[in-house]
Amino acid sequence: PPVDTFDYIVFGGTGDLTMRKLLPALYHRYRDGQIPDASRIIGTARSPLSRADYQQRATDALHEHVKPDALDEATVQRFINMVHYVSLNGAEADSDWPTLKTLLDAVPATRIRVYYLATSPALYGQICENLSREGLVTEQSRVVLEKPIGTDLASAEAINDSVGRHFPENHIFRIDHYLGKETVQNLIALRFANPVFERLWTCDAIEYVQITAAETVGVEGRGAYYDRSGALRDMIQNHLLQVLCLVAMDPPVSLEADSVRNEKLKVLHALKPISADDVAIYTSRGQYMRGTTGERTVGSYLEDLGEGVTSETETFVALKAEILTWRWGNVPFYLRSGKRMAEKSSEIVIQFKSAPCSIFTNNPEPNRLIIRIQPDEGVMLSVSTKDPTPTDSLALRQADINIEFEKAFNIRYPDAYERLLLDVVRGDPILFIRRDEVAAAWRWIDPIEQGWRENKAPLEPYAAGTWGPEGARNLLSQSGHLWHEDMKK
Ligand code: BG6
Repeated sequence: PPVDTFDYIVFGGTGDLTMRKLLPALYHRYRDGQIPDASRIIGTARSPLSRADYQQRATDALHEHVKPDALDEATVQRFINMVHYVSLNGAEADSDWPTLKTLLDAVPATRIRVYYLATSPALYGQICENLSREGLVTEQSRVVLEKPIGTDLASAEAINDSVGRHFPENHIFRIDHYLGKETVQNLIALRFANPVFERLWTCDAIEYVQITAAETVGVEGRGAYYDRSGALRDMIQNHLLQVLCLVAMDPPVSLEADSVRNEKLKVLHALKPISADDVAIYTSRGQYMRGTTGERTVGSYLEDLGEGVTSETETFVALKAEILTWRWGNVPFYLRSGKRMAEKSSEIVIQFKSAPCSIFTNNPEPNRLIIRIQPDEGVMLSVSTKDPTPTDSLALRQADINIEFEKAFNIRYPDAYERLLLDVVRGDPILFIRRDEVAAAWRWIDPIEQGWRENKAPLEPYAAGTWGPEGARNLLSQSGHLWHEDMKK
């Protein structure tokens, strides 16, 4: 069903995120009849553009980022009619707020307003203060904050304090687009609707867990941001820890947002701290060198940053997390993420314990459940079966029970933002991060960053197009474990 009519006001309206993700996502939802025509999407940015200029940019963005079979010109035209633009510096008090106010006040104050901050997080507090001073924060107003919320616990708390002065917590939507991915949400269904899995979801049956988000892209012109962030802050603090929470949490009593978020928070609180002195034992960090991805030779991270630049920023991280609870005692959770890796693939691997003995000619391999987040969303369970080759003994061979969601349901898999943007309008925060989760995640990350800053773990090189540095492999091999790609060999 369609959501209520809304105004979406995007700060950073000319930016890459707006053009590549937000506008296409809203377009898809509009095309599916979920957005009433009277809604408005109001881009704001400093550039002095006319409404027509901005509408042209938005049209171009749709043509570039929406698949041709979903683009029909009449629908695009109707969608673009909803698009407005106000040239405004959101961080400055004396910018053109009156124009924005006039536009917003032209409709009843009961209309839902969403302020989407797709700007540098350093500006979040200032923008909210300006909105509030201009009387633009109505009862129906919500604010969406893009990650990264800060660069450590102290800066995250400062941002959350400054936004919290103008919006109540239940009107603040901290977005983590991994939570909008279908298979990530599917984890909740898979775990809590299928007793066959949940009964085995403990240290009694599980040997270790791997969560990987590997990318083939490099820093792609985002060097200025990325070099101050690095893989740990860019991917682990948010996306991978959120996935870890959904894999590890206890069953929530309901699908109420706080019921789920309370369980996630418990996992974050139960993470065994990795002290600065222990980073060499629990973490591996790397930076990509020149190498080959696909057929292409690509430059190193330093070359991507620009001539004559040096940097100690990690473009790859792997770490061993432990969760100190009865459910997860002694089960390592290996997390890793990197740029310029061998494949674009995000997945969760649950490695079960081995059979206690074998009555067959060969040893059965442990069962393995693979939850593929992207691409090719699906769930796969590897099982030992009888080797069909006729011999006089009974030998085993691995085979897979495999669900590929796109084939199973025969529908287009929506982009994560499509779900999340309308959840904000509906006022449903289940897939958004609560303030205490952000703080708990930073509290765990900060000592790791500190250990690295003090150079207590080496920054290892790895060739672009590979699975990362040797240290990542060693992290697992000390416990006799393997990364997924090495199991396949
Ligand atoms: C973003 C990071 O949050 O997630 C990027 O800032 C990264 O560096 C991206 O490329 C990965 O998202 P996805 O959906 O492509 O896995």
